[in-house]
This record gives sequence, C-alpha cells and structure tokens, in this order.
Amino acid sequence: MPLAATGGLVARAAARHGAVAAFNVITLEHVEAVVSAAETAGTAVILQVSENAVRFHGGRLAPLAAAAVRCAEPSTVPVALHLDHVKTGVLLRQAAECGFSSVMYDAAHLPYAENVAATREAAVWAHGAGLWLEAELGEVGGKDGRGPLDAHAPGARTDPGEARRFVEETGVDALAVAVGSSHAMTSRDARLDHDLLAALHAALDVPLVLHGSSGVPDDELRRAVHGGIAKVNIGTALSIAMTTAVRSHLAADERGVDPRAYLAAGRGAITEAAGRLLPVVAGTAG
Ligand code: G3H
Ligand code: ZN
Repeated sequence: MPLAATGGLVARAAARHGAVAAFNVITLEHVEAVVSAAETAGTAVILQVSENAVRFHGGRLAPLAAAAVRCAEPSTVPVALHLDHVKTGVLLRQAAECGFSSVMYDAAHLPYAENVAATREAAVWAHGAGLWLEAELGEVGGKDGRGPLDAHAPGARTDPGEARRFVEETGVDALAVAVGSSHAMTSRDARLDHDLLAALHAALDVPLVLHGSSGVPDDELRRAVHGGIAKVNIGTALSIAMTTAVRSHLAADERGVDPRAYLAAGRGAITEAAGRLLPVVAGTAG
C-alpha cells in the first residue's frame, strides 16, 4: 500500500489508547527489517530518518527515503515516513519532495522565545506543504542558571503550563515531552514521571511523543502509552541488536568476507528487536 500519513496513524492509535512505534532507520537493512517486523506483528509503523542519519549518508536524504517508500509500498500494514530531529530549514524543506508526511522540528536547544519563533515558522511551512509537524519542549532555561534542556536530556521535565502555551503559540500537531527518558541509553532502566505525564496529557490536546524510548523498560512503556503517549521513538535498541549480532557473527567466522552474511545477521536481529517492541507500544501485548 502507499505510504500512510503519520498524523492519521498517531490519531488512530491515540483514539484506542495505544501508540505507534517510530523506529530510526539508518540503512536499507533497517528499513527492510522494520517493515518485515511490522508485517509479522500486524501493526502500523513509522520509519523515521534523523538528521544524523542524513549526515551519515553524506547529506543526502533522497536515497534512503526512496528505499523506505519502495519497501513500504508492497507492505501489508500501514507504514509512514517521518523526518526526525531536523534542525535546519534546508533539510526541513526537502521533506515533502522525498515522500515524508511528517517532520519533527527540533529547536528545543534555543531559548524559549526563539524556539517558539522558529517552530511557528516551521509549522506554517509544514502545513502549507501538507506535512504534520512535531516539535519538542524540554525544560525552559533559567533554573540554576543553565540553558534550555531538550526533551530527552537527562533530568529535564516539561512544564504543563509552558507546554500548553508553546502548543498554542506555535500551532504544532504533536509535542515531544520530557518525562524521564533520555536519548541513547544502552540499559533499560529509565523510570518515567507518570504524574507529570498525566498533567501534560490533561493540559494538551495534541498527541504526546516519547523520545529516548530504548532505555524505557516494557512495563514503563505500557504505562506511558496508557497515560497518553501516542508516538514512541526508538533508535538505540535497534543499534544494540544489530551491532551485537554483527559482532558475534564476525567473531564466529573470522575468515568470512561476504558482507551479506553479517548484514543478514544484523538485519535479522533488528527484525527481532522491533518485533518484540511493536506489540508493547501498540498496546496489544502484556
Ligand atoms: O528520535 C529518536 C529517539 O528519540 C530515539 O531515542 O535512540 O534513545 O531510542 P533512542
Ligand atoms: Zn529523539
């Protein structure tokens, strides 16, 4: 089927008190693995490409995006394509022509007023291009003299009142919030602030997004989805799975030189990791 729209998938998931998993894809093998896992699980999924992944591909967005579009087309489940953690206007504006239906515009490192101005401008452009726009608000600067903390900085917390004002002032479609997760965790022991999440859910009428979800254990993920998180971003968990499998494959086959052998092991491990997480996030497991 053709690519699904991120906004529609997230809205449908939220309406049934579930969420959609959004997996970071870096290589073709990631794309193939995540689509295959979603088909086996029978759940919709979001493939997301981050600005860091674009940098890894020499600044080129189109080739990986085209691979995602082509792998999504024959899929038996809805697949959406999302551009993640975009900090530059140049990349933002490439989203529409490469088949993305949504973008996360990341200006959370800026002081509040500048974050609002940049995000509002991004939202106006995105809506004009038919795209759904996610933004983030971590912790506004000023506490202990420190600058703003983004939504996945350890220790950051989003204030519900500020978040409501931010959504009103920017017109964004979804908000990434800081409730205790942090990016790139390799252990799954994050504890979320569920009271704060409940307050944010009550204060806001846009879907809430959890970043840094690799470090959040299954029971915490389930509670977060039940408590109002409608999009769950996962990246590092796939990197751990892929790298562990490739490392052990190469250790067991020191003389092998065919990349297909270890890439197949890596791709299989991603499929398995995504397949385990999909039902947890969708709210259909446990
Ligand atoms: O935007 C992407 C995510 O926040 C991924 O975070 O790599 O810690 O799972 P993670
Ligand atoms: Zn993130």
